[in-house]
Amino acid sequence: MSKHLLVVFHTQSGTTSKMADAVIHGASSPDVDGVEVRAKSALEAEAGDLLWADAFILGSPENFGYMSGAMKYFLDRVYYECVDKINGRPFALFVRAGNDGSGAISSMRRILKGLAVREVQKPVLIAGVFDESRLTECEELGLTMAAGLEAGVF
Ligand SMILES: Cc1cc2nc3c(=O)[nH]c(=O)nc-3n(C[C@H](O)[C@H](O)[C@H](O)COP(=O)(O)O)c2cc1C
Repeated sequence: MSKHLLVVFHTQSGTTSKMADAVIHGASSPDVDGVEVRAKSALEAEAGDLLWADAFILGSPENFGYMSGAMKYFLDRVYYECVDKINGRPFALFVRAGNDGSGAISSMRRILKGLAVREVQKPVLIAGVFDESRLTECEELGLTMAAGLEAGVF
């Protein structure tokens, strides 16, 4: 029986989506068996996607010192349908920011704390000039989450 890994992200000018592509690529590695990866934009993803997921990864730009409005809208829409139903599920974050990123990370963590889910990897934060070489960290994040799910280590 396969396990399920969900990636939900938002992008406006395209850099967070490059990070998401790398995360999805890593998570879909042929080295991992038995993990189905589903990727959705934050505007499309629904509570059913989060309930489906054995683990999930959220990616957002930092806008105005917070997660993007689209990611907040996703969490607003799914919160009450998911609260008390996904307790303990593992998650990880990736964030793109012009210069900071801490507000996006802390705001997502604050809401996810209410969902009682567990952050199992350090976030990948690419701040400042977009350094494409750091996409390998996104790929590793996806691979680690998928491999950890497969191995049952989370
Ligand atoms: C409306 C707006 C607000 C932003 N606010 C912040 C911010 O508070 N902190 C920061 O580090 N970057 C900020 N940025 C920069 C974005 O995080 C950066 O442009 C990022 O690359 C956007 O991701 P995207 O390419 O996936 O859309 C802001 C950008 C926009 C458009």
